[in-house]
Amino acid sequence: MQDVFCAEDVISGGGVFAALSPPARLAVFGDPVAHSRSPAFQNAALRAAGLDMSYVKIRVPTELALDAFRALPAAGFLGANVTIPHKAAALAAVDEADLYARQCGSVNTVAVQGGRLLGFNTDGPGLVRAIREEFQVDLRDLRVMLLGAGGGAGRAIAVQCAREGCERLVLVNRTPRKAELLVAELEGYFQTDRLVGPVERLLAIPFEVNALRAQIAHTDLVINATSVGMRRTDPPLLPPALLNPSLMVFDTVYSSGFSRLLEDSLAAGARCANGLSMLLHQGALSFEIWFDLPAPLDIMRRALLAQP
Ligand code: ATR
Repeated sequence: MQDVFCAEDVISGGGVFAALSPPARLAVFGDPVAHSRSPAFQNAALRAAGLDMSYVKIRVPTELALDAFRALPAAGFLGANVTIPHKAAALAAVDEADLYARQCGSVNTVAVQGGRLLGFNTDGPGLVRAIREEFQVDLRDLRVMLLGAGGGAGRAIAVQCAREGCERLVLVNRTPRKAELLVAELEGYFQTDRLVGPVERLLAIPFEVNALRAQIAHTDLVINATSVGMRRTDPPLLPPALLNPSLMVFDTVYSSGFSRLLEDSLAAGARCANGLSMLLHQGALSFEIWFDLPAPLDIMRRALLAQP
C-alpha cells in the first residue's frame, strides 16, 4: 500500500481511497506525517473489530488544510485524526466542536456525521487515562507542574487539568506572558471550597531554576509538553538536581524512547513514563467517537509497541 497520500487525493473526490482494499475511510492529516504511528494501531483495531476499511496517512500542506477537511465527506471518509500543524485549522474547518476542543482551540479528531464535520479533542482525556495506567493515580488528585504550558499541547493539558480540578497546577513557560494569560483563563476552575493549602493552587512561573526549585517541592507530577528532548542532543530541560524520588514524570515526547528528562528522572529515583500511552489512549478515544464501540485497547497497544 502507498505509504503517504496527499491532500489533492482527498480534494479530488477520494477515488484513490475507494480503490484500496480495504478502502481507506479514516486518516491522519499532518505535515510532516510520514512518522505517524497512528495507522499501525488504528488498522489493528479496525481488523480486530471486523470493520472492512483502512486508515492512511495524508500529508496536508497548510494552504490546503481547510479544503482537505471539508472534502472528507465527499471523499468517503468517516473521520480523521489531526496532528501538527493542523489542529487549530481543524477547529476552524468543522461545523461543530465540543466544549473541550473549543477551550483548547484545537481539534485532534474529526468525525463525519450526516455530511457534517464534528470536532473533538481526545488529547486531554487520553492523558487522564495514560496517567491512571502508568502511575495508578488520578490526575485530579495530583499537584501538577506543566512544562511548556504556552504551546498547543501544553494548553490542551492545562485545560484538562483545570477541568479535572487537579489539586494544584503550576504552569511553566519560557515566555511567561503566555502562561500568565492561561492562568487568567483557568482561575475560575480553581476557585472552589476545597481547603486552601499553604501554596496557591494555580500559578504561572518562568522557566528559571529558582522558581522551579521553589515549586517542585509542592509537586507530585511533572509533565513535559515542550518538544525539547525529541533530539538526543537537546540540552536538559530541568537541572537533574531538581529531580527527586517522590516525583512522577510524564514526558509527552516519545519519538526517542526515553528522553533525557526521563533518563535523569529515573536516575533520581522518580517514576517515569513517556507519551506512548497518551498516544494510544487519544487514539482509542478517537476510535470510540467514530464507531461508538469500545476500542480493542490491548490489540492497539500491542500493535503500537511492535513498531520499530
Ligand atoms: P506549538 O506549535 O504547540 O505552539 P512550539 O512552538 O514548539 O509548539 O512550543 C511548544 C512549547 O514548548 C511552548 O510552550 C514553548 O515555549 P514558548 O511559549 O516560550 O515558545 C516551549 N519550548 C519550545 N522550545 C523550548 C525550549 N528550548 N525551552 C523551553 N521551552 C521551550
